[in-house]
Amino acid sequence: MKVLVIGGGGREHAIVWKLSQSKSVDKIYCCPGNAGIAELAECINVSQDNFQALLDFVKYEWIDLTIVGPEDPLSKGIVDLFENDGRRILGPSRAAAQLESSKVFSKDLMRAHGIPTAEYKVFTSYLHAEEYIRFKGTPVVIKADGLAAGKGVYIANTTDEAMQALKLIMKDRIFGDAGNRVLIEQCLQGEEASFMAFTDGTTIVPMVSSQDHKRVFDDDLGLNTGGMGAYSPAPVITEELEHIVLEKVMKPTIRALKSEGITYKGILYAGLMIDNGIPSVLEFNCRLGDPETQPVLSRLDTDLMEIATAITDGRLSDIDIKWKKDPAVCVVISSQGYPGQYRQGDVITGLDEANRVEGVQVFHAGTAFRDNSIVTSGGRVLGVTATGPDIAAARDKAYEAIAKIHFEGMHYRKDIAGRALNRKPG
Ligand code: AMP
Ligand code: GLY
Repeated sequence: MKVLVIGGGGREHAIVWKLSQSKSVDKIYCCPGNAGIAELAECINVSQDNFQALLDFVKYEWIDLTIVGPEDPLSKGIVDLFENDGRRILGPSRAAAQLESSKVFSKDLMRAHGIPTAEYKVFTSYLHAEEYIRFKGTPVVIKADGLAAGKGVYIANTTDEAMQALKLIMKDRIFGDAGNRVLIEQCLQGEEASFMAFTDGTTIVPMVSSQDHKRVFDDDLGLNTGGMGAYSPAPVITEELEHIVLEKVMKPTIRALKSEGITYKGILYAGLMIDNGIPSVLEFNCRLGDPETQPVLSRLDTDLMEIATAITDGRLSDIDIKWKKDPAVCVVISSQGYPGQYRQGDVITGLDEANRVEGVQVFHAGTAFRDNSIVTSGGRVLGVTATGPDIAAARDKAYEAIAKIHFEGMHYRKDIAGRALNRKPG
C-alpha cells in the first residue's frame, strides 16, 4: 500500500519510520518532510495548506491512506474534504478537531458532560474579564480561545501579570482572531502527563503513557516550548489511573461528541494534571503529541499501518495493539534562540555516529539539505530517542548519542526524564 504523511517534524519522522517497518507499506510520501524523513519517504513539493492539490496528488498516485500529523490541517477540514471524496485519511473531522482548535468548545463540552477540568469563565469583553480577575485573585490562568501554536496560555501569579496577559490577547491581539474570546481558569496544581489513545469513534485503545517537558531550560525554567523532551511510560499514570482516565475522560468525551452528532476518529490526546491520583483535563489535542510520539511509537510493537487502517475502516476492536516493555526517552536538540527567534542554516555533524549507538534513533524535526550537508532549518532540530531496559539506561543512551552530534548554538535540556528517576515510590 501507499501512504502519504502530512507534516515535517519529529512526530512525522517517527510516524514515517514506524510505517517503513510495516509489511504492507510499499511506498511512503511526505509533505513537506525533512532531511531525515527523506531517507525513508519521497518528500513532495506541494503546499501543506493546499488540500485540493494534496487530494489530486493522492488520486493521481493511487495513495491508499493519508495520515495527518499537525493540528492545523485538521482544524481547517482536510479530513472532511478527503472523506467526501471517498479517501482514507487518519484524523478527526473539522467539527471533531474543535476539541483542540477552540478551547471554549472543549471546556463547554467537558462542563456539560461532567468531564473533570479546571473551573473557568469565558469573556469577549476586556472590562468584564478584568473585573473577574480582580474578583477571583491569583494565581489564575488566562487562555486565548483559538490555536496559538501552544503559546496562548499564561499562568499569572500576580494581578499585574494577569492584566498584562489579558492586554496581549484582547487589546494587542497578538494571536489575532484566536483571541476574540478568552478563558479565565482556575490554576491547578499537580503533575502533568500526556494520555493518547487511538479511536475509531466507538472503540478506544489507550497508548502507553508519556510525559513532556515544556519549558526550554533545565528544572522547568524559561519559556514554554512545543516540548523539549519526553519519556514513556510516565510513572504517575499507574494502571489504576489509566483505568480512571479511560472511564472518566476518554470514553465520556467520545460519547459527549457523539451526542452532539460528531464522530471522533483518529488520535485523541488528553493533557492531564494529576493531583493526588485525581486527573483533570488541561487541554485536548486532536493528534499525536510532539515529542511524545517519538518515545511512544518507539515502544509500539504492532504494525502502525494495521492500526491506521483499522481506525479509518471502523474496526479497531478487531485488532490487538501490543507495546514493548522497555521504556524510551527522547531528548530534543533545539536551535539557539528557540522558542524565540532562532539561528538557522547551521551544518549538523555526527548524525550517523549518533544513530549507531545501540537502541538509538535520531528523529529529525527542523532539518534540511544544503549542498552535501544536513543543516538546521527550524526551532526544534532533532529528537534523539533511545530505548533501554529502564528509564535511566534509555536516558544515558540518548545523552551518549547527543555527545556525538554538533551544530553551532545547539541547545538541549540535561534533565529529561529526571522527574521519573527522582520519583519517590507511591
Ligand atoms: P494548554 O495548551 O491548555 O495545555 O496549556 C499549556 C500549559 O499551561 C499546560 O501544559 C500547563 O502546563 C499549563 N496550564 C494550562 N491550564 C492550566 C491550569 N488550569 N492550571 C495550571 N496550569 C495550566
Ligand atoms: N508536546 C505537546 C503537544 O504536542 O502539544
